[in-house]
Order: sequence, then structure tokens, then C-alpha cells
Amino acid sequence: MKDLLLAMKNKAADELDEIRDESELENARVKYLGKKGELTGVLRGMGTLSPEERPVIGALANEVRTMIENKIAQRKEALRKKALSARLLLEKVDVTAPGVCPPVGERHPLSKVQDELCSIFTSMGFDIVEGPEVEYDHYNFEKLNIPKNHPARDTQDTFYITENVLLRSQTSPVQVRTMEKQRPPIRIISPGRVYRSDAVDATHSPVFHQLEGLVVDKGITMGDLKGMLEYFAKQLFGEDTKLRLRPHHFPFTEPSAEVDVSCFVCGGKGCRVCKGEGWIEILGAGMVHPNVLRGCDIDPDIYSGFAFGLGIERIVMRKYNIDDMRLLYENDLRFLRQF
Ligand code: DAH
Repeated sequence: MKDLLLAMKNKAADELDEIRDESELENARVKYLGKKGELTGVLRGMGTLSPEERPVIGALANEVRTMIENKIAQRKEALRKKALSARLLLEKVDVTAPGVCPPVGERHPLSKVQDELCSIFTSMGFDIVEGPEVEYDHYNFEKLNIPKNHPARDTQDTFYITENVLLRSQTSPVQVRTMEKQRPPIRIISPGRVYRSDAVDATHSPVFHQLEGLVVDKGITMGDLKGMLEYFAKQLFGEDTKLRLRPHHFPFTEPSAEVDVSCFVCGGKGCRVCKGEGWIEILGAGMVHPNVLRGCDIDPDIYSGFAFGLGIERIVMRKYNIDDMRLLYENDLRFLRQF
């Protein structure tokens, strides 16, 4: 029995030294010290020993047990330390490594110009209002003095939801919506998306952006319109900018004009940007038609007003010398990062 215990002691010591993880360690504990374990088995045989042998073997058995227990505790601690340092190594943060820089976005040139336009007009006391993109025929055409079968509808063919509901072809319906709700004095701008059933090419898109303006009060004249636009053009294109009004026709203004600014690249001499003309058309404008005022319950004998509408894409393209409108919608970062 003594030999058995000594052999067990050596075997257990070797085995425990080899152990690599905690579950193996637990198996070894059960194998030697468990209820059906090897050491327990030996102790059970103690009954057969002589009274002289018993204390000697008992002491040896205790020695073996203590050795095994200590060894298990040691191995456990060693394994814990090893696992901890492995984990520390794995989770190590190199604080000197360069950081991963999150890509920072830029404002789209269309948004930039729209913001610039809005801030010029708000500095003149205009309020910004918004109107729906899905609009009634009634507001988009009818109330703007464009009855059914009016030829002006041809140039503003759009997308119809039903016979009477459409995607607005211009921001002008916001004029009507504002005048229906608000009494003069009115001084608003309204930027937003508009739609037309146009095929995509370098200068056309079925979706684009306009900015509408409307002023209604007592005694508003074409002179006010011109003065205001002149101030606006100088703010946007520079102090030396000149303005030119050409007679035109819009159903909802009378008189109406197309408005050009002197070319901000060549100053009017003629260059590539203005296509040799010296002037760049930027917007349509005019005095609000009496029919439109009357339709909104505003008495044209007491009040008058002016309105204007500009295409934001056109201004962006001129300002940044972009020759293809599609570039504004493709979201190619190589293009967008230039602004
Ligand atoms: N709505 C017109 C268009 O899309 C632009 C316009 C012209 C707006 C004259 C106006 C205006 O307010 O007075 O072609």
C-alpha cells in the first residue's frame, strides 16, 4: 500500500504539471480526491491494515492528499495568471498608433447656394416659408392665372398623381398659399424642389430646385423690385454686378421681366461663362397680376406686389462654372469635394 501511495504521488505530480486548463484540472481533482477517486480508494483499504501499519500509511496518505491539493491550487493560480496575461496582450491598446479618422462630410453645392440665397433674403427681412411638393393643380396653375388649355402649361408639363394632384412644376404656388393665409404686408421666400417631365441631359432634370419670392404691400412698384434685385445680385455676385430687365411674359405677373446680371467672370465683355454675351439670365420676375391678388382676396386697388422665381441649379452652375447639371445629382465624391 505504501508503494501504491508513493507511485500515486509521483504520477499525480507529473500529471498535474502537464495540465493546461481549468477543466482538466477539475478532472484530475476528481480522479484522485473524488469520492470514487484513487486516493479515496486506497484509504478505503485501510481497514485491512495492521494497527502498526495504519498510522504510518495514514500519515503517508495525508501527505499525498496535501501534496495533490497544494499542487492543484498552485496550478489553478498559474493558469489564472497565464489567462490574464494572454487577455491583456490581446486587449492591449496601442495609444501611440494613429487614430482612424472618420470621413467628414461636406455640404452639397446646391445646399450651400440655397443657404446663401436664404441668408441674403432674410437679411432683407424676408421670411422663409415652405410649400408641399405634391400640389393641387388649383395652386400650381389655376390660381396663378394659368387655366386649363393655357399654353404655359406645355412648358411646365409635370407628373400627375391624379387629374387634380401633381408634383409642383414651380415654387410659385407657395405665393398663393401664403396670400390665402396671410394679409399684407407679405415678404417671403420659398426654396424647394420642383418637378417637370423633362428628359435628363446637361441642362435638364425632372427634379430641380427653385427659390420663389413674394412681396405684397401698399404702394409696391417695379422700382422696389429692381432695387431689391440689384442689392441681391451684388450680394451674390459682387459689388460691380449690374442688372438688366428684359420684357417677358408670365401669366401670374404683369408686367413681367426676365432678369440678367452682368457676367461675374468677365464683367460684361463676353467670355466662356456667359457664352460671349456679357450677361447671364438668372430669374423671372414681375408685378403680381391683379387676378392673382383678387383670387386670394387681396384688393389690387389697395395693394400691389412683386414676385420672382429663380432656378438654384442654374445659379450653382454659373457660380462654380459647372457645365453639366447631372454632376449635381450623381454624388460622386471626387466632384463634390471640390466645393
Ligand atoms: N415660376 C416661374 C417658372 O418656373 C418663374 C417665375 C417667373 C416666378 C416670374 C415668379 C415670377 O414668381 O414672378 O418658370
